[in-house]
Amino acid sequence: MLQGVPAQSAYRVALRRAAHQLADQPLVFVDPLALRILGLNAQGRGSTGTNQDLRAPDRPASKSLRAFLVARSRFAEEMLHGAVRTGTRQYVVLGAGLDTFAYRNPYPHLRVFEVDHPATQQWKQTLLQQADMAVPPNAIHVSADLQQDGLGECLQRAGFDAAQRTVFAWLGVVPYLPRTALEATLQELAGSAAHSVLLMDYCLPRHALPPIEQLEFDSLAARVAAAGEPFQTWLEPQEARELLARHGWQVRCDLGHDAINERYFAGRADGLAVLRSGARVLTAEPITND
Ligand SMILES: C[S@@+](CC[C@H](N)C(=O)[O-])C[C@H]1O[C@@H](n2cnc3c(N)ncnc32)[C@H](O)[C@@H]1O
Repeated sequence: MLQGVPAQSAYRVALRRAAHQLADQPLVFVDPLALRILGLNAQGRGSTGTNQDLRAPDRPASKSLRAFLVARSRFAEEMLHGAVRTGTRQYVVLGAGLDTFAYRNPYPHLRVFEVDHPATQQWKQTLLQQADMAVPPNAIHVSADLQQDGLGECLQRAGFDAAQRTVFAWLGVVPYLPRTALEATLQELAGSAAHSVLLMDYCLPRHALPPIEQLEFDSLAARVAAAGEPFQTWLEPQEARELLARHGWQVRCDLGHDAINERYFAGRADGLAVLRSGARVLTAEPITND
């Protein structure tokens, strides 16, 4: 990431969640704040009267990416809701970007720690103020650069209780980190309380993709690099399992596009689905000695 500059990637994925609220029926991911945090009204118009950022949501590549982004957010919140029912009281959103869960959290006892790069964190706070979105007392902002700062220490300073079971959501971040930061973060979180859950998505390396996706990969990789946030880390499923295990995490489920489609997009008339195989989302639990 460019030092001192908010993540453009966070804006882009937030726009796609916002587009979903307007363009797709039925909704896979209901987020009543997705438009508002971007300063957009219910029609997708901003203060300048334009909604051009939300246009053209029907291009196949755009629809497929949007489908993946809303499915991973839905999956995370489903996991969270299940965990809260069985006693989880902490939710840590790593690389939170413009995620809005903390501002529509229905659980008074659930503390939500939003961790992000300091520049993105500051920018989000400005957007929240501009959108007149109050920060509830159980939403805690934690500034941390996962490439430099000890995550455990930053969380602890913010009041995180390492002995309490926790859901960690780490969505859309791993590809942008060097592998050393991925491993260091996993290591920092290893030793989390039993029954904690880590949910993260990851991208397959170029050579593991079918030819058409290799071309799209090149184009996307060039665009994110030009925006100052190059992709740096890719994993294959077996490699992901082994890497997580080395750092104390056992993968419980790992969903590719077929499984995601079966779960969230079956029987739709509008063709919204994940059409590409390059991104997956997994859940893992800390390896314990029990
Ligand atoms: C593609 S956005 C995803 C945001 C959010 N998780 C979502 O799904 O909307 C990537 C996020 O990772 C954060 N990020 C990237 N590198 C980081 C780092 N070294 N330390 C902390 N956060 C980082 C960015 O600031 C950005 O918010």
